[in-house]
Amino acid sequence: MRDVAIIGAGETKYGEHWDKSLRDLAVEAGLKAIEDANIYAEDIQAIFGGNMSAGSFVGQDHVGALIADFAGLAETQVPAIRVEAACASGAAALHAGYLAVASGMYDIVLVGGVEKMTDLPGDMVTDILAGAADREWEVFLGATFPALGAMMARRYMHEFGLTIEQLSLLPVIAHKHGTMNPDAHFQREVTVDQVINAPMVADPLTIMHCSPVSDGGAAVVLAPTDIARKYTDSPVKILASTVANDYISLHSRPSLVESPSTIAAGKKAYEMAKKEPKDIDVMEIHDAFSIIALEGLEDLGFAKKGEGIKLAEEGQLYYDGDMPYNVSGGLKAKGHPVGATGVGQVVEIVKQLRNEAGKRQVPDARVGLAHNVGGTMTTSIIHILEVM
Ligand code: COA
Repeated sequence: MRDVAIIGAGETKYGEHWDKSLRDLAVEAGLKAIEDANIYAEDIQAIFGGNMSAGSFVGQDHVGALIADFAGLAETQVPAIRVEAACASGAAALHAGYLAVASGMYDIVLVGGVEKMTDLPGDMVTDILAGAADREWEVFLGATFPALGAMMARRYMHEFGLTIEQLSLLPVIAHKHGTMNPDAHFQREVTVDQVINAPMVADPLTIMHCSPVSDGGAAVVLAPTDIARKYTDSPVKILASTVANDYISLHSRPSLVESPSTIAAGKKAYEMAKKEPKDIDVMEIHDAFSIIALEGLEDLGFAKKGEGIKLAEEGQLYYDGDMPYNVSGGLKAKGHPVGATGVGQVVEIVKQLRNEAGKRQVPDARVGLAHNVGGTMTTSIIHILEVM
């Protein structure tokens, strides 16, 4: 296996893009990454596109071919494949692209992620997203994703005495960071009181404990490390790319307060990268619902089980704290265009490691971690990156 680096990264602004289609978002992100990598589109030898549900959201399937065509590569016959793993589709596409370069099969690979979610009414979006859970045994019986997240939160509160005031610190931090990211869906600060008193979605989760429904695209360009410097002065090496899965439904799991898939993917990633949690300078943790982020922080070893919220209470998770977390705004404030999210997290880490993150720059960031999950932490995908 060869070592792999990211030589270019780019993304669209996340939010409601009434004036842009799925293909517009994919092409905008892809072209930004291509330009950043100092390559020509024709240099691309393969494309992996993360997308969860374009067929349902906008009636467009065959997304790999669509991206290749509108990137101007139809006549090069470039291999282009869509990768799907629910909300982890973006990171799954990056894993596929990583393997393709590491194997020696391709040198220059474009990895994209895209989703266009806001064209449909909310109830239809909720139903499409619910397809990432167990349709027969959870969704058919009335569970939506916010409802499943609420069950995880209630159980965690029961076992560890977590209060809703404590859980609400995580969206407060994410929204603070969102104000420093011009590409974030939301750029306004919120208080704990505002989080708790926002409209209830699934008790105890209010709208402010949930990620929004967003449109967006993100892309990176990969190359083997030994030729990466030909294209850029600051390649970012992928030290680890790992995937793990769990039971798809919550009721099959022995516990609702930890994620075996995040624990397994994290353990493998730390081994592969030869790093420990203390070596991570900046992290993007999947916070589709605040409880998922809290469990993720613990399951990745940043805190003991039941004690993760102390990191928020002590101010460690802010961009200028000891454990900078979701400095992009996270899924909560940056937004969650599901197929793009996993690639977008990595775009943020690349900007941080290249010292290009502007107001939200984490000082001296050299090693970063991205945690992207599909379903109720069913699929967990971890990337650990280091600037070369
Ligand atoms: N956080 C903050 N503000 C939000 C928000 C969120 N998650 N979702 C919507 N808003 C804002 C909108 O911008 C809008 O503001 P405006 O009135 O100033 O324009 C207002 O709230 C109403 O928006 P609307 O789209 O009508 O909200 P909604 O009630 O239909 O949807 C949720 C809110 C939380 C139900 C929806 O965002 C949701 O389903 N989120 C979860 C998505 C999900 O499950 N993703 C996959 C996870 S694995």
